Amino acid sequence: MPPLPVLIDCDTGVDDALALLLAARSPSLDILGVTCVAGNIGLVAVVSNTLTVLDAAQRPEIPVAPGYDRPLLAGFANSEFENASHVHGEDGLGLPDWPRSSRPPDPRHAIDLIAEILAVAPEPVTLIALAPLTNLAGFVQRHPALLPCIARIVSMGGSAFSGGNMTAAAEFNIGCDPEAAAVVYNSGVPITLYGLDVFRQVTLTPAEVDLLEGAGQPWSPLLGGLLRYVQRRFGQAKPGLGDAGTVAATILPETLTIHPHRVDIELAGTHTRGMTVVDRRVASKDAHHAAPPNADVAYAIDARRAARLFVETLVE
Ligand code: RIB
Ligand code: CA
Repeated sequence: MPPLPVLIDCDTGVDDALALLLAARSPSLDILGVTCVAGNIGLVAVVSNTLTVLDAAQRPEIPVAPGYDRPLLAGFANSEFENASHVHGEDGLGLPDWPRSSRPPDPRHAIDLIAEILAVAPEPVTLIALAPLTNLAGFVQRHPALLPCIARIVSMGGSAFSGGNMTAAAEFNIGCDPEAAAVVYNSGVPITLYGLDVFRQVTLTPAEVDLLEGAGQPWSPLLGGLLRYVQRRFGQAKPGLGDAGTVAATILPETLTIHPHRVDIELAGTHTRGMTVVDRRVASKDAHHAAPPNADVAYAIDARRAARLFVETLVE
């Protein structure tokens, strides 16, 4: 089976780095480009971290383009742009002493890179969204004619049953830029909502961490450092793979249990701004009819299968 053409949008923090390593070493994916957006940390550090991770993965040929450094309505809707450096460390990788790449990013803006890649792609491309959706919203608004070139957006963001992690209601990637998420969810592009309901399920065993760290691959030292940071920072003997689960589910979609639902983004509520409102009512002759679905919502994941894919790919 030929590799799946993908673009990855990220805010390289620790779990984005794990996701990029999996994607970069997977024979099942053809990464056409990577775009960066402010989220876990500021845009400059996101770009630097992304280049560093791809260098370690021996994939320096993949173009990395910077996008937005703030949410769509920064200064209006968001009084203060939150970042997650308290989670990912001030450097974003939990590895402040790790030497960063000296490679320059692609000179194009993220939106232009996406447009140029999609315009010439021989088949529709899957977008793996691991960050606030600011870049993707900007692309949707600027290039509506190219939307048919997107096969699907697999979006790590929101939740159906698990509430939020940025606030009680908002998951971080949606909560950072709810307006952007609303643009994407109203774009008509097929979406898989890979939310906190499954995001937290994919973990490694301590033995798998030891195996990956000691695999002797060029990326093994960085990978080991990232996994040890997660174990320390969260006190998790079994580190969560976070965004990497999104990539695993893109490679193996059969690992997900999904249901089509209408998903709307709350923009106004004092306590609910940034919430993914998943309409799980089932249209029937008696009940109110739910709005037509605009997303496939992940209810469950075969977490062990996803974790094994990560290990098998990166032990190589
Ligand atoms: O809520 C988790 C998501 O927000 C992950 O993508 C993490 O990297 C942060 O971007
Ligand atoms: Ca992320």
